[in-house]
Amino acid sequence: MKNIIFFIVMSVIGLSCNSGKKISVSSSENRFYHIIPKPVSIIDLKGYFEVNKFTNFAYKEENTEVATFMELLNTKFSFPLKGIIVKESPEENAINFAIDSTINKEEGYILEVTNSFINIRAKTYSGIFYGVQTLMQILEFDTRDNKIPALIITDFPRFKYRGLHLDVCRHFFPPEFVKKYIDLMSRYKFNRFHWHLTEDQGWRIEIKKYPKLTEIGAYRDSTMIGRYSDVPRRFDKTRYGGYYTQEEIKDIVRYAAKKHITIVPEIEMPGHSRAALAAYPELACTEGPFSVMPIWGVSEDIYCPTEKTFKFLEDVLSEVMELFPGEYIHIGGDEAPKARWKESKYCQELIKKEGLKDEHELQSYFIRRIEKFVNSKGKKIIGWDEILEGGLAPNATVMSWRGEKGGIEAAKQHHEVVMTPGNYCYFDHYQSLDKDEPLAIGGYTPLEEVYSYNPVPKELTKEEAKYIIGAQGNMWTEYIPTPELVEYMVYPRAIALSEVVWTPQKLRNYKDFLKRLIPHIEELKKEGVNVANHLGDISAKFENTGDGVKMTLWNSMPGSIIYYTLDGKIPDNTFPVYSEPGIIRKSVKIKAVTYYKGKQAGPVFSREIKMHKAAGKFMKLINEPSPKYNKGGANALINGIMGSDVRYADDQWLGFNGKDFEGIIDLGAKMHINRIKMRFFNNKGAWIYPPGEIEIYASDDGYSFTIAGALIIKSKNTSKVMSVPVRLLKNTNARFLKIKVKNHGIIEEGAQGAGHPAWLFVDEIIVE
Ligand code: ACM
Repeated sequence: MKNIIFFIVMSVIGLSCNSGKKISVSSSENRFYHIIPKPVSIIDLKGYFEVNKFTNFAYKEENTEVATFMELLNTKFSFPLKGIIVKESPEENAINFAIDSTINKEEGYILEVTNSFINIRAKTYSGIFYGVQTLMQILEFDTRDNKIPALIITDFPRFKYRGLHLDVCRHFFPPEFVKKYIDLMSRYKFNRFHWHLTEDQGWRIEIKKYPKLTEIGAYRDSTMIGRYSDVPRRFDKTRYGGYYTQEEIKDIVRYAAKKHITIVPEIEMPGHSRAALAAYPELACTEGPFSVMPIWGVSEDIYCPTEKTFKFLEDVLSEVMELFPGEYIHIGGDEAPKARWKESKYCQELIKKEGLKDEHELQSYFIRRIEKFVNSKGKKIIGWDEILEGGLAPNATVMSWRGEKGGIEAAKQHHEVVMTPGNYCYFDHYQSLDKDEPLAIGGYTPLEEVYSYNPVPKELTKEEAKYIIGAQGNMWTEYIPTPELVEYMVYPRAIALSEVVWTPQKLRNYKDFLKRLIPHIEELKKEGVNVANHLGDISAKFENTGDGVKMTLWNSMPGSIIYYTLDGKIPDNTFPVYSEPGIIRKSVKIKAVTYYKGKQAGPVFSREIKMHKAAGKFMKLINEPSPKYNKGGANALINGIMGSDVRYADDQWLGFNGKDFEGIIDLGAKMHINRIKMRFFNNKGAWIYPPGEIEIYASDDGYSFTIAGALIIKSKNTSKVMSVPVRLLKNTNARFLKIKVKNHGIIEEGAQGAGHPAWLFVDEIIVE
């Protein structure tokens, strides 16, 4: 039996260097397993292994590190199994753990369940740990009456860096919660915990040489309430803070190691350093004093690149490197405004002295010096993608967060990359469009979007793709004050990401994932994890067909039914069933709801389509919107659906940063047009401004246009959405309309975002 299994595994997967001849295995039944992340290969065998009172754990004397494995597995049995040391492995009627040097994947494992034994073999203890995690899930979800289905699983990760991040600075989370966070990560085979420890709003790690970092830097006098973009801003005027002692950190590092998770500590520089400057103002370019920031966003005050600062940072990093045994130190590098460096005589002289071009190269000089120091201690730096600006430090790994562009560029320069683009990996974004969702920073990144992510961009060659070492989900906590809310935002999206970073791309399928996910959500809930469940939320796609709007509805709940109405009535399970996409040609009020096992399972979905002369037709843009705010594409501007009145990051609004809007509508046939009504988002706190001017041109052929209407906008309107009508010249008959809208331009002094280009948000263009 043992030999047959050995052959099957080796030949099917090639996990080991050995190559045997192919043996086909006929499966006794087609079983469905709920394992997440989905393993590389599962082969069903006949029968099962039954755990009884005489079943033991078994391992050889030299394989000493098995205590944790036994502890974990025993949580799944109603009676504890004992460990025995054996000379020969696998032992009958036992769950065997064995280090097997013929397996060549560092974190891979083989889990065999036969009628007479269970054997988990791996090259490393991490591999065995992952085999144990898989067995734990089989025991939880796919085992009945202590009968574990016989099978062979051969498994290994797609990426070596599988990360989750936690910002403990904007809000502080106690050590017990950090451990729980790590514990949950380990179940889904994550192996890097990125611990964001320093910020403008708080310094959270004890540094013995600089006690004021925590005495002063760990506490702020007040915290903002509501949104960053609210005008005016409001504050709670309550002291807030906390930090981890070095003893607590050591304890957490040990805890994580037991879960085969390496911690990547982040010490931000040169920006996001206001809490440190509050403690040691002499590290800034100007005099201070500085406060630990009570508002979210980015401080203009950053470290000055003086010898004093480098000495300070080297001292801090020395203590940090003592505490964290992992290979990486994250040095931040993101969002460092250069205003202070521009105004500083010292910085300008340093730029000259070092032959640097500008402040970006000065940041690069800063990071290179730090890298040299970190490398001299045998460690590597990792930084946010801004560290590309002004030139990458020679050995730096890049964390690509502003989309994938930085990651692509770094991989092309043969630097290692961890992908963490906002659209897929930021778990502080909304996961549902339901109006009752807790306040979040913005964005919309539902479970399906996370699952759809492939960390290897198409732009890379096979050779360059090797530099993508993995991906990470980020949990920024400006709007997340409690552990419960962290869990709500991270789970189940992290579970989707676990499969992104572990499972081969070709084995991934969202529907199959959802079928496996449901019992995980139930189990996590039972264990007291505040996991979100938006599987019954209805998603919709609206596509212009030239003569109408095609509507597609779906949810993430296999086996459920969607009921809908088009007249605004709230449907229940006596209303029409949605079965396939349909084309809408008149104004409708859509309502839809999911039912699962006869019960409503999710909020009521609502959308209104108001038909007008351009609705359902085609639109072409001359200037592209920002990729971040282009969910619906150009045709969303003329689909009869108005962008949300409260949220600009939906599937209707298109956002243009500093750019004018220019596009052409094809009405399909020549027709008479009276006026155009355009909607603009208006939220100055979020740097979104109404435009200065609109011009409309008409054409019969789409090439030669003549002016048909124009409007200069002077309104001091403060409502969130402005609706602006433009009456066209009498007798405007045309098939094509060109629309130009002037961006507000640079934001004026004194306003939030002063000096930055304004955003222009458009939806919808109503043609009457
Ligand atoms: C970041 O989100 N500022 C890295």
